[in-house]
Amino acid sequence: MSQQHSAAPASDTVAVRGDWWRDAVIYQVYPRSFADGDGDGMGDLEGVRTRLPYLRDLGVDAVWLSPFYASPQADAGYDVADYRAVDPMFGTLLDADALIRDAHALGLRIIVDLVPNHSSDQHEWFKRALAEGPGSPSRDRYHFRPGKGAAGELPPNDWESIFGGPAWTRVTEPDGTPGDWYLHLFAPEQPDFNWEHPAVGDEFRSILRFWLDMGVDGFRIDVAHGMVKAAGLPDLGSHDHLTLLANDVTPFFDQDGVHEIYRQWRRILDEYPGERIFVAEAWTPTVERTANYVRPDELHQAFNFQYLATAWDAASLREVIDRTLDAMRPVGAPATWVLSNHDVTRHATRFANEPGLGTQIRLAGDRELGLRRARAATLLMLALPGSAYVYQGEELGLPDVVDLPDEVRQDPAYFRGAGQDGFRDGCRVPIPWTRTGPSYGFGPAGTWLPQPPTWADLSVESQTGVPDSTLELYRTALAVRRSEPDLGAGDAVEWLPAPEGVLAFRRGDFICAANTGDTPVTVPSYGRLLLSSAEPPSTPGAETTLPPNTTTWWTTA
Ligand code: BGC
Repeated sequence: MSQQHSAAPASDTVAVRGDWWRDAVIYQVYPRSFADGDGDGMGDLEGVRTRLPYLRDLGVDAVWLSPFYASPQADAGYDVADYRAVDPMFGTLLDADALIRDAHALGLRIIVDLVPNHSSDQHEWFKRALAEGPGSPSRDRYHFRPGKGAAGELPPNDWESIFGGPAWTRVTEPDGTPGDWYLHLFAPEQPDFNWEHPAVGDEFRSILRFWLDMGVDGFRIDVAHGMVKAAGLPDLGSHDHLTLLANDVTPFFDQDGVHEIYRQWRRILDEYPGERIFVAEAWTPTVERTANYVRPDELHQAFNFQYLATAWDAASLREVIDRTLDAMRPVGAPATWVLSNHDVTRHATRFANEPGLGTQIRLAGDRELGLRRARAATLLMLALPGSAYVYQGEELGLPDVVDLPDEVRQDPAYFRGAGQDGFRDGCRVPIPWTRTGPSYGFGPAGTWLPQPPTWADLSVESQTGVPDSTLELYRTALAVRRSEPDLGAGDAVEWLPAPEGVLAFRRGDFICAANTGDTPVTVPSYGRLLLSSAEPPSTPGAETTLPPNTTTWWTTA
């Protein structure tokens, strides 16, 4: 594939603008899989710090780091034992401080992950709750309940864990008898906090201040739709198996009570200088419900999972884009766009398969087609108004690793034997930096998940300077996005008439046209070509033929 683009100059520093987050491109680092600074096979903060210049040169505005806090790693760090400490596996607080400082010096902002729905079962509060026994006040910080049945042998309600199996685990009391059950919407090692208890809110407000004082620029809020449960914890009733991606009304997700928590948090954030932000991981039934999280006195952004879950199809994409922009406009929040993260099959693999298989797929599909569509999908995403998220490795066109042997898998969903079937490990394989070396430059030793040998050719080193590589496409696209003020800004697109399978819209002097079909399509000329995700379209006279599965950027200026 070749691409054509204008040579936009790379800038040395990131311009600090007002409301930077409204059109920011935010890069997700999954610390254990990004870069290994100390050679233990696991990525760490020092690894991230040394690669910050790469991210600056890529052209992103901010970096969101998945959790690096003290954790037994039952769910890759989303089980936090101490919210104010760095896990030794990732480094120390000093390393976090150095990372934040270096990022700022490079003009990059740092967003950390906050996990308020649940703690680790090794958190001091939970250990105390278990040790102090039934009826002790320390149990009120979590959801402990007696079981049903003659001897309390049945869970208190019918809720299931997102990772499979019941959402309740029965404890053995200090005297050795089977006792109460506790709630965990995720793994048993992740007990849910009881947000009705005032100490929980106090603690999280203090944790927010701790990291704000450390200088972070914002927080991604894990399971932001889950903290408040319906009063009385009522049964769910008959239901299909729930997954992390469930878009359903339940007594444990998207309860209105969560919004009061965010109003309080917003007031804290606004006390701090600089423009710091919250982004919600909120899986809600509709994008309209998502908009509730980003009302002016609540959070700044929420991930647009409806967009992530949309097939590579012009009509479906147009519908979700319109619906998103229409939902966000009344609350004045920017739309966000995301195609991949650490919980779903990478979009290069999703688009390599038939549509309709969902976001967790363990099939390689047609890799060449998947990559071609992924590149096109990225250019479409980066042309939309609002903020975009990039997941580490997608700029290399990495596919999911679909054939990991069972013995290396670590996703708790795999071991719970239901739901996601361990699919999340496939998008978490450490990324390749160099063409050779024991872990393709990830670190001086091996990797915690094996990398396929084909990744040598997908490494940063292999793609750097290669004009038609996916890495250079991302670099160019991000540079053009910076130099074209119409990209990212605003809250609307002006759709242009387009044949079936094609999406075309204007934003000022800028036009984006995407052919989502498998055959070339002829359209009227759009002006001067800025960038194409694949071979350049042919432009005889007043017409242009868009290649299949290709997004093109144009200017009329
Ligand atoms: C995170 C997952 C995690 C879950 C439980 C999420 O939504 O993104 O990786 O397993 O929350 O914390």
